[in-house]
Amino acid sequence: LPHKHISLLGKEIYLFRELTSTNSVARQMAVSGAAEGIIVMSRSQSAGRGRMQRQWHCPPGKGLLLSMILRPQISVQFVPQLTLLTAVVVAETIKIVTGCAAGIKWPNDIFINDKKVCGILAESSFSKSNFEYIIIGLGINVNLGIHHLPSDCQKTSTSLSLELGENVSRVKLLRQFIISWDEHIQGFVKAGHPYLRDKWIKNNVTLGENVIVNKGDSCLHGLAVDISEKGGLIVRLADGSLQEFLAEDVSIRKR
Ligand code: BTN
Repeated sequence: LPHKHISLLGKEIYLFRELTSTNSVARQMAVSGAAEGIIVMSRSQSAGRGRMQRQWHCPPGKGLLLSMILRPQISVQFVPQLTLLTAVVVAETIKIVTGCAAGIKWPNDIFINDKKVCGILAESSFSKSNFEYIIIGLGINVNLGIHHLPSDCQKTSTSLSLELGENVSRVKLLRQFIISWDEHIQGFVKAGHPYLRDKWIKNNVTLGENVIVNKGDSCLHGLAVDISEKGGLIVRLADGSLQEFLAEDVSIRKR
């Protein structure tokens, strides 16, 4: 279990007008020794990245785009847990600041009313079993109008302002994110996976759903029933067996 308390989040915040990707810049800073807890933010990104080699687009000033540098003294297997924890923190932040019913779609997308409002991308480097750093980046669609969303995304994506009917302060979101992070990282450090599982389950919209799991060229159907210690999704397949899927191997959608 992690044994070092990460309580310095946001002690230093670097805000850019434009950069390639906050994850890339945070990584460069981490490689050259930047301290744990630093947050890198930008009004816009020219090469924002998502999971599965996808791109992440957001018009300048309309999103909350940030990456945090973490240096937890934990072994490789716990990285997905920190990513799930980040999803818990984002869902809670959105609920507190906007009142919108934000829920986590496994592994760590945040949805409101069945539409994606935030994505999370974790990248790490490690030697032996200890991490040198882990970068967790998140992009929240904050004040995008419908015309800001590409037409092929309008049915599947949304923004906080679209859901709420008014603009939302990015500063308020950032402040609440840091407060909620501090609370949940402490809970996780003390109580480990059971703490995370409890919070994740309370905030998720995936468990109990019939899902289609895409793995390479194959796809499986089943009922999402739990998350594992590795942050994997546990699915009950048609034959009644339970199977664990890891976020790096698969993507899921509702049936
Ligand atoms: C996904 O949904 O696939 C993850 C999207 C993550 C986007 C954020 S925006 C800030 C940070 N910098 C990046 O290049 N990506 C993440």
